[in-house]
Amino acid sequence: MDVQIVDWLSLVTRWLHIIFGAAWIGTSFYFNWLNNHIRAVEGDAAPKGVDGELWSVHGGHFYRVLKYEVAPEKLPKVLHWFKYEAYFTWVTGATLLVLVYYLQPSSYLVDSQVRALHPHLAITIGVGTLVGGWVVYHLLCKSPLGRYPVPFALLGFALLTGLAFGLTQLFGPRAAYIHVGALIGTIMAWNVFFVIIPNQKVLVAAMTAGQTPEASLGQAAAQRSLHNNYLTLPVLFIMVSNHYPMTFGHEYNWALLAGISLVGAGVRHWFNLRGKGEKNVWILPVAAAGMVGLALVSAPQTTEYEGEATFAMVRDIVERRCVECHSSAPTSELYPVAPQGIMFDQPQAILDRAPRIYNQAVVTQQMPLSNLTGITDEERAIIGAWYRRGAAGP
Ligand code: HEC
Repeated sequence: MDVQIVDWLSLVTRWLHIIFGAAWIGTSFYFNWLNNHIRAVEGDAAPKGVDGELWSVHGGHFYRVLKYEVAPEKLPKVLHWFKYEAYFTWVTGATLLVLVYYLQPSSYLVDSQVRALHPHLAITIGVGTLVGGWVVYHLLCKSPLGRYPVPFALLGFALLTGLAFGLTQLFGPRAAYIHVGALIGTIMAWNVFFVIIPNQKVLVAAMTAGQTPEASLGQAAAQRSLHNNYLTLPVLFIMVSNHYPMTFGHEYNWALLAGISLVGAGVRHWFNLRGKGEKNVWILPVAAAGMVGLALVSAPQTTEYEGEATFAMVRDIVERRCVECHSSAPTSELYPVAPQGIMFDQPQAILDRAPRIYNQAVVTQQMPLSNLTGITDEERAIIGAWYRRGAAGP
């Protein structure tokens, strides 16, 4: 498919993905908050079966929500379900995965520096990760371990970290990160589709028929909701991680991902505790210290290059290794238009963008993309030395 078309499709899909994702996470945050703020009914007697209420004001209107201990005696004509946000987030996410990674495997999915996989094999591994990951997760939930949230969380964390490690040995680093995120997103959305909503339907049907529903259905839905709750913040990080090459581009990218995910799940835990009225003073400072710690331990170590490193040399390297894509008329088949509008035809452009060139080509080594133009370590070292010695012009 034409790159231009793929880019526009990806723009629209990404936009929708964020819109549906915001709606999904927004309702999920709202209902968590709502549950935590329901208080005993004030004043007038409450309708039968009601065990709490919540008043709020928003946009100039007052709202009163009643919470039933189990269910109202008679169901209302219109009962709202919250599911399409989740489904559409998943559908748009899966489409984006195809557009960005599977239709152009040589850009981000396959990285010959990591492993020269055949594109078809890489795509099969990608899809297999999502489906296989879900099956493993689903079976674990149904196993006896599923009843013990803490051991379950520890095992889940270990498995996801193992997966992140494995994928970073097979895929380009951005693709490895996004596949971990896509699996977490798949688990969350499929939890809604295969467990939470179907079980709620059975519960509602049983109540309408005046029967007592099986308790295990509600428990399974609650288990999946709890997992989704803790996965929210890590998956949000992975969604935006593509902007941060110092994470996915790092030698120990899988460990950084594990560390940042722990911080995310920890912060979610703080919200959950706070919601229950338990004050915990150390989680947030520890999370903040964790982020600082990750930034420090992942800081690049540079070995000083002794040789000469002049602007003329750098310009020469950029012309050989970068201009194929980053020019006003790229010769690359993959990129008919300069990516992100970044062009290095003019010497001044190299000087203006020196920090970003240094960051991309030396620190995180994300450029040249998948090293398609075969830059050498020495060339990277020359750019590094030139930049650190003041990035002087001609
Ligand atoms: C095969 C094509 C290709 C080559 C060769 C290439 N780039 Fe890129 N470059 C890209 C693409 C694609 C992007 C956009 C990445 C994205 O959207 O995240 C990009 C983005 C960038 C960015 C912006 C990223 C940011 O977030 O700051 C910089 C800077 C950059 N390239 C520098 C270089 C340098 C320096 C070289 C040569 C050493 C180089 N590129 C070689 C394709 C290429």
